[in-house]
Amino acid sequence: MLRWPWPKVIAHRCGGALAPENTLAGLAIAARIGCRAVEFDVMLSRDGEPVLIHDETLDRCANSSGTVAALDGALLMATDVGERFHHAFAGETIPSLDAALRRCRELGLAANLEIKPAQGHDVETGRVVGRRLASLGVDDRPALLLSSFSADALEAAMEDVDDIPRGWLAGAFDAAALKTASRLGCASIHLALDGLEAAHVVAARAAGLEVLVYTVNRLADARRLASWGVGGLFTDRPDLLLDTIR
Ligand code: G3P
Ligand code: MG
Repeated sequence: MLRWPWPKVIAHRCGGALAPENTLAGLAIAARIGCRAVEFDVMLSRDGEPVLIHDETLDRCANSSGTVAALDGALLMATDVGERFHHAFAGETIPSLDAALRRCRELGLAANLEIKPAQGHDVETGRVVGRRLASLGVDDRPALLLSSFSADALEAAMEDVDDIPRGWLAGAFDAAALKTASRLGCASIHLALDGLEAAHVVAARAAGLEVLVYTVNRLADARRLASWGVGGLFTDRPDLLLDTIR
Protein backbone atom coordinates (compact mmCIF):
# COMPACT_ATOMS: atom_id res chain seq x y z
CA MET A 1 0.00 0.00 0.00
CA LEU A 2 1.18 3.53 -0.75
CA ARG A 3 1.94 5.40 2.43
CA TRP A 4 0.64 8.91 3.11
CA PRO A 5 3.80 10.98 2.42
CA TRP A 6 2.99 13.89 4.77
CA PRO A 7 3.56 16.61 2.17
CA LYS A 8 3.51 20.10 3.63
CA VAL A 9 1.30 21.65 0.93
CA ILE A 10 -2.11 20.08 0.22
CA ALA A 11 -4.32 21.60 -2.47
CA HIS A 12 -7.71 22.26 -0.84
CA ARG A 13 -10.74 20.87 -2.73
CA CYS A 14 -8.42 19.49 -5.47
CA GLY A 15 -6.91 22.52 -7.17
CA GLY A 16 -7.51 25.22 -4.62
CA ALA A 17 -8.48 28.56 -6.13
CA LEU A 18 -6.95 27.63 -9.48
CA ALA A 19 -9.82 25.44 -10.69
CA PRO A 20 -13.46 24.67 -9.96
CA GLU A 21 -13.49 22.92 -6.58
CA ASN A 22 -13.65 19.12 -6.27
CA THR A 23 -13.08 18.43 -9.98
CA LEU A 24 -10.75 16.35 -12.12
CA ALA A 25 -9.58 19.61 -13.72
CA GLY A 26 -8.44 20.68 -10.27
CA LEU A 27 -6.44 17.47 -9.86
CA ALA A 28 -4.70 18.03 -13.20
CA ILE A 29 -3.77 21.60 -12.29
CA ALA A 30 -2.55 20.61 -8.83
CA ALA A 31 -0.28 17.98 -10.35
CA ARG A 32 0.93 20.35 -13.08
CA ILE A 33 2.10 22.99 -10.62
CA GLY A 34 3.95 20.43 -8.50
CA CYS A 35 1.53 19.51 -5.67
CA ARG A 36 2.09 16.08 -4.18
CA ALA A 37 -1.28 15.94 -2.40
CA VAL A 38 -4.83 17.16 -2.65
CA GLU A 39 -7.85 17.21 -0.37
CA PHE A 40 -11.41 16.61 -1.58
CA ASP A 41 -14.88 16.20 -0.07
CA VAL A 42 -17.04 13.11 -0.62
CA MET A 43 -20.82 12.91 -0.18
CA LEU A 44 -23.40 10.30 -1.18
CA SER A 45 -26.00 10.69 -3.88
CA ARG A 46 -29.59 9.49 -3.32
CA ASP A 47 -28.69 6.08 -4.76
CA GLY A 48 -25.53 5.76 -2.69
CA GLU A 49 -22.86 6.83 -5.18
CA PRO A 50 -19.94 8.63 -3.51
CA VAL A 51 -19.18 11.82 -5.44
CA LEU A 52 -16.93 14.82 -4.93
CA ILE A 53 -18.86 17.81 -3.61
CA HIS A 54 -18.58 20.08 -0.61
CA ASP A 55 -22.07 21.52 -0.14
CA GLU A 56 -25.31 19.66 0.50
CA THR A 57 -26.86 21.52 -2.44
CA LEU A 58 -25.78 22.30 -6.00
CA ASP A 59 -26.61 25.98 -5.73
CA ARG A 60 -23.16 27.51 -5.13
CA CYS A 61 -21.08 25.63 -7.72
CA ALA A 62 -23.53 24.57 -10.43
CA ASN A 63 -25.92 26.45 -12.69
CA SER A 64 -28.75 24.40 -11.27
CA SER A 65 -30.20 23.78 -7.84
CA GLY A 66 -31.06 20.67 -5.90
CA THR A 67 -30.06 18.63 -2.86
CA VAL A 68 -27.21 16.16 -3.36
CA ALA A 69 -28.75 13.49 -1.13
CA ALA A 70 -31.99 13.70 -3.12
CA LEU A 71 -30.43 13.33 -6.57
CA ASP A 72 -29.14 10.23 -8.35
CA GLY A 73 -25.44 9.76 -8.96
CA ALA A 74 -25.83 9.70 -12.74
CA LEU A 75 -27.49 13.12 -12.68
CA LEU A 76 -24.88 14.57 -10.33
CA MET A 77 -22.05 13.23 -12.47
CA ALA A 78 -23.60 14.98 -15.49
CA THR A 79 -23.91 18.28 -13.61
CA ASP A 80 -21.62 21.09 -14.79
CA VAL A 81 -19.63 22.63 -11.95
CA GLY A 82 -17.03 24.30 -14.17
CA GLU A 83 -18.93 27.04 -16.00
CA ARG A 84 -19.90 28.85 -12.79
CA PHE A 85 -16.19 29.09 -11.84
CA HIS A 86 -15.02 30.24 -15.29
CA HIS A 87 -16.30 29.66 -18.81
CA ALA A 88 -12.97 28.02 -19.68
CA PHE A 89 -14.03 25.13 -17.43
CA ALA A 90 -17.50 24.67 -18.95
CA GLY A 91 -18.33 20.98 -19.23
CA GLU A 92 -16.41 20.01 -16.09
CA THR A 93 -18.77 17.79 -14.11
CA ILE A 94 -18.97 16.39 -10.58
CA PRO A 95 -16.60 13.40 -10.46
CA SER A 96 -17.33 10.06 -8.87
CA LEU A 97 -15.01 9.04 -6.04
CA ASP A 98 -13.80 6.18 -8.25
CA ALA A 99 -12.81 8.57 -11.06
CA ALA A 100 -11.02 10.92 -8.66
CA LEU A 101 -9.05 8.11 -7.04
CA ARG A 102 -8.08 6.72 -10.43
CA ARG A 103 -6.91 10.14 -11.62
CA CYS A 104 -4.92 10.76 -8.41
CA ARG A 105 -3.20 7.44 -8.90
CA GLU A 106 -2.41 8.30 -12.55
CA LEU A 107 -1.09 11.74 -11.60
CA GLY A 108 0.91 10.49 -8.61
CA LEU A 109 -1.12 12.62 -6.18
CA ALA A 110 -1.76 11.56 -2.59
CA ALA A 111 -5.39 12.15 -1.60
CA ASN A 112 -6.89 13.31 1.68
CA LEU A 113 -10.42 12.00 1.31
CA GLU A 114 -12.69 14.04 3.57
CA ILE A 115 -15.88 12.11 4.24
CA LYS A 116 -18.53 14.85 4.15
CA PRO A 117 -21.85 13.23 5.02
CA ALA A 118 -25.06 15.07 4.30
CA GLN A 119 -26.91 15.68 7.55
CA GLY A 120 -28.15 12.40 9.01
CA HIS A 121 -26.12 10.21 6.63
CA ASP A 122 -22.92 9.88 8.69
CA VAL A 123 -22.70 6.13 9.17
CA GLU A 124 -24.01 5.30 5.72
CA THR A 125 -21.49 7.62 4.03
CA GLY A 126 -18.55 6.30 6.04
CA ARG A 127 -19.58 2.73 5.38
CA VAL A 128 -19.92 3.22 1.61
CA VAL A 129 -16.56 5.01 1.39
CA GLY A 130 -14.83 2.31 3.46
CA ARG A 131 -16.32 -0.49 1.39
CA ARG A 132 -15.49 1.22 -1.88
CA LEU A 133 -11.87 1.74 -0.84
CA ALA A 134 -11.57 -1.84 0.38
CA SER A 135 -12.98 -3.13 -2.91
CA LEU A 136 -10.37 -1.21 -4.91
CA GLY A 137 -7.43 -3.13 -3.54
CA VAL A 138 -4.29 -1.59 -2.17
CA ASP A 139 -2.53 -1.20 -5.52
CA ASP A 140 -5.46 0.51 -7.26
CA ARG A 141 -5.74 3.51 -5.00
CA PRO A 142 -3.45 6.47 -4.34
CA ALA A 143 -1.76 7.13 -1.01
CA LEU A 144 -4.70 8.08 1.20
CA LEU A 145 -5.51 9.93 4.38
CA LEU A 146 -9.15 9.66 5.50
CA SER A 147 -10.69 12.46 7.51
CA SER A 148 -14.04 13.77 8.65
CA PHE A 149 -15.76 16.18 11.00
CA SER A 150 -18.00 13.19 11.75
CA ALA A 151 -16.63 10.62 14.19
CA ASP A 152 -19.49 8.30 13.25
CA ALA A 153 -18.52 8.44 9.57
CA LEU A 154 -14.83 7.84 10.29
CA GLU A 155 -15.64 4.92 12.58
CA ALA A 156 -17.91 3.36 9.96
CA ALA A 157 -15.19 3.68 7.29
CA MET A 158 -12.59 2.17 9.62
CA GLU A 159 -14.54 -1.07 9.78
CA ASP A 160 -13.40 -1.88 6.24
CA VAL A 161 -10.14 0.03 5.89
CA ASP A 162 -8.47 0.14 9.25
CA ASP A 163 -5.08 0.15 7.46
CA ILE A 164 -5.60 3.62 5.93
CA PRO A 165 -4.36 6.49 8.14
CA ARG A 166 -7.04 8.76 9.58
CA GLY A 167 -7.24 12.40 10.59
CA TRP A 168 -9.76 13.89 13.02
CA LEU A 169 -11.18 17.14 11.65
CA ALA A 170 -11.60 18.85 14.97
CA GLY A 171 -11.71 22.47 13.81
CA ALA A 172 -10.85 24.10 17.13
CA PHE A 173 -8.21 22.66 19.43
CA ASP A 174 -9.15 21.49 22.92
CA ALA A 175 -8.63 18.50 25.21
CA ALA A 176 -11.77 16.79 23.90
CA ALA A 177 -10.43 17.00 20.33
CA LEU A 178 -7.22 15.27 21.36
CA LYS A 179 -9.24 12.60 23.13
CA THR A 180 -11.42 11.94 20.08
CA ALA A 181 -8.38 11.75 17.77
CA SER A 182 -6.81 9.23 20.08
CA ARG A 183 -10.03 7.19 20.45
CA LEU A 184 -10.31 6.97 16.67
CA GLY A 185 -6.68 5.90 16.32
CA CYS A 186 -5.87 8.93 14.21
CA ALA A 187 -2.44 9.78 12.84
CA SER A 188 -3.34 13.46 12.57
CA ILE A 189 -5.61 16.16 13.88
CA HIS A 190 -6.88 18.79 11.45
CA LEU A 191 -7.37 22.27 12.90
CA ALA A 192 -8.69 25.59 11.65
CA LEU A 193 -6.18 28.40 11.23
CA ASP A 194 -8.33 30.87 13.18
CA GLY A 195 -7.53 30.63 16.88
CA LEU A 196 -4.65 28.19 16.45
CA GLU A 197 -1.70 28.73 18.81
CA ALA A 198 1.82 27.30 18.87
CA ALA A 199 0.98 25.63 22.21
CA HIS A 200 -1.84 23.66 20.52
CA VAL A 201 0.61 22.27 17.97
CA VAL A 202 3.07 21.34 20.72
CA ALA A 203 0.33 19.57 22.73
CA ALA A 204 -1.00 17.64 19.73
CA ARG A 205 2.48 16.55 18.68
CA ALA A 206 3.23 15.49 22.24
CA ALA A 207 0.11 13.28 21.99
CA GLY A 208 1.64 11.65 18.90
CA LEU A 209 -0.48 13.48 16.31
CA GLU A 210 0.59 15.34 13.19
CA VAL A 211 -1.18 18.71 12.92
CA LEU A 212 -2.75 19.69 9.59
CA VAL A 213 -4.16 23.21 9.30
CA TYR A 214 -6.88 24.66 7.03
CA THR A 215 -7.21 26.95 5.11
CA VAL A 216 -3.85 28.69 4.79
CA ASN A 217 -3.73 31.10 1.87
CA ARG A 218 -1.07 33.59 2.95
CA LEU A 219 2.66 32.95 2.85
CA ALA A 220 3.27 34.69 6.19
CA ASP A 221 0.81 32.32 7.93
CA ALA A 222 2.35 29.33 6.19
CA ARG A 223 5.85 30.30 7.31
CA ARG A 224 4.71 30.81 10.92
CA LEU A 225 2.91 27.45 11.01
CA ALA A 226 5.89 25.66 9.45
CA SER A 227 8.08 27.08 12.21
CA TRP A 228 5.63 25.60 14.75
CA GLY A 229 6.14 22.15 13.26
CA VAL A 230 2.79 21.56 11.58
CA GLY A 231 2.60 18.47 9.38
CA GLY A 232 0.65 19.99 6.49
CA LEU A 233 -1.31 22.97 5.23
CA PHE A 234 -4.54 22.88 3.24
CA THR A 235 -4.43 25.79 0.83
CA ASP A 236 -6.42 27.38 -1.97
CA ARG A 237 -3.13 28.92 -3.17
CA PRO A 238 -0.72 26.03 -3.66
CA ASP A 239 0.91 28.18 -6.38
CA LEU A 240 1.86 30.71 -3.70
CA LEU A 241 3.13 28.27 -1.09
CA LEU A 242 4.85 25.49 -3.02
CA ASP A 243 8.18 27.24 -3.63
CA THR A 244 8.66 28.21 0.01
CA ILE A 245 6.97 25.52 2.12
CA ARG A 246 8.55 22.11 1.58
O1 G3P B 1 -10.20 19.10 5.32
C1 G3P B 1 -9.89 20.43 5.52
C2 G3P B 1 -11.00 21.33 5.06
O2 G3P B 1 -11.39 20.93 3.78
C3 G3P B 1 -12.18 21.32 5.97
O3 G3P B 1 -13.11 22.30 5.64
O4 G3P B 1 -15.28 22.98 4.77
O5 G3P B 1 -13.30 23.09 3.29
O6 G3P B 1 -14.28 20.89 3.91
P1 G3P B 1 -14.04 22.31 4.34
MG1 MG C 1 -12.88 19.57 2.89
